Amino acid sequence: MKNILVTGGLGFIGSHTVVELFNQGYNPIIVDNLSNSTEEVLDRLEQITGVSFLYLKENLANYESIKKIFRDNKIDGIIHFAASKAVGESVEKPLLYYENNLVSLLNLLNLSGEFNVSNFIFSSSCTVYGQPDKLPVDESFPKLPAESPYGNTKQIGEEIIEDYCYSNREFKAISLRYFNPIGAHETALIGELPLGVPNNLVPFITQTAAGIREKLNVFGGDYDTPDGTCIRDFIHVVDLAKAHVAALEYVEEMPENYDVFNVGTGNGYSVLEAIKSFEKVSGINLNYEIVDRRPGDIEKIYADTKKVNGVLGWKAERDLDDMMKSAWKWQKSLQKN
Ligand code: UD1
Repeated sequence: MKNILVTGGLGFIGSHTVVELFNQGYNPIIVDNLSNSTEEVLDRLEQITGVSFLYLKENLANYESIKKIFRDNKIDGIIHFAASKAVGESVEKPLLYYENNLVSLLNLLNLSGEFNVSNFIFSSSCTVYGQPDKLPVDESFPKLPAESPYGNTKQIGEEIIEDYCYSNREFKAISLRYFNPIGAHETALIGELPLGVPNNLVPFITQTAAGIREKLNVFGGDYDTPDGTCIRDFIHVVDLAKAHVAALEYVEEMPENYDVFNVGTGNGYSVLEAIKSFEKVSGINLNYEIVDRRPGDIEKIYADTKKVNGVLGWKAERDLDDMMKSAWKWQKSLQKN
């Protein structure tokens, strides 16, 4: 059984990936510093899989502690999720973002070299494309200057990995450029746990429906889109988790040392369409209002998925209604606790 180090394994995407890794016969080893998650997620993972995973509460910036993990366990591959991801906060605290997102990456790459770990999957983002000239956006499109320190850490992260792959021909890595991950596990035992007021759309929708927030602000109704609201490629977190397993299976055989893949559905939906889907599956009329644009938002983006479908043999299976249904089930399960 292959040991896969999953950094940020108790987080939103990380926890769902732990389940899918286990389902495909891997042994995930979780590292998480609980900066945006809780240890309860570990119990939930155990309820879903019937297995208790090795979990280490460590900060990846702490080289010696992380080295101990590599010394004590034979690591066959790494999936690196652990990172700070609030765009607005990154503008206020850039050094924190560069430190959290890049020092941890450098440490993991150094340790990969030291301990001969040759497979690496990196959480990147469609934010690296900025606003593309045409859509859908494919992997050959240029990366535009980042709009935020957060976005910059993803661009720089990709470049660091690519340079390292070039210098160490034994090392193989894939960056997965996520579009907008939403939804939750079908059991409603794991899902997104935003700290405080959510920044992202879907947690804000579900919290408004649950009565935690009074009203959803829809940022901008005057974009150059059919209904005037922004367009995104929403992807179910379980589909996204499965893409990581597909990437891990491919990376060993990969002819190149480094590659990048979009991970989206290929469908663009507007913010209003997302709200309508939520209203349909929940039977709730959402209290929302169209307000000013949010600075830094991209008008529209969705993925060209030919490469990921063809090369990784992975395709998103869940539609927007499935995503909203699972997000709502998860929100309701939180109310019960
Ligand atoms: C952002 C980041 C992305 C990051 C992701 C996760 C950018 C350009 N995008 O995605 O890289 O991976 O967050 O943190 O930096 N909206 C509302 N009302 C709300 C919240 C959102 O109308 O209360 C709208 C936004 O204006 C946007 C859409 O919903 O049009 C999606 O927003 P959000 O969920 O925050 O994701 P992104 O900004 O697309």
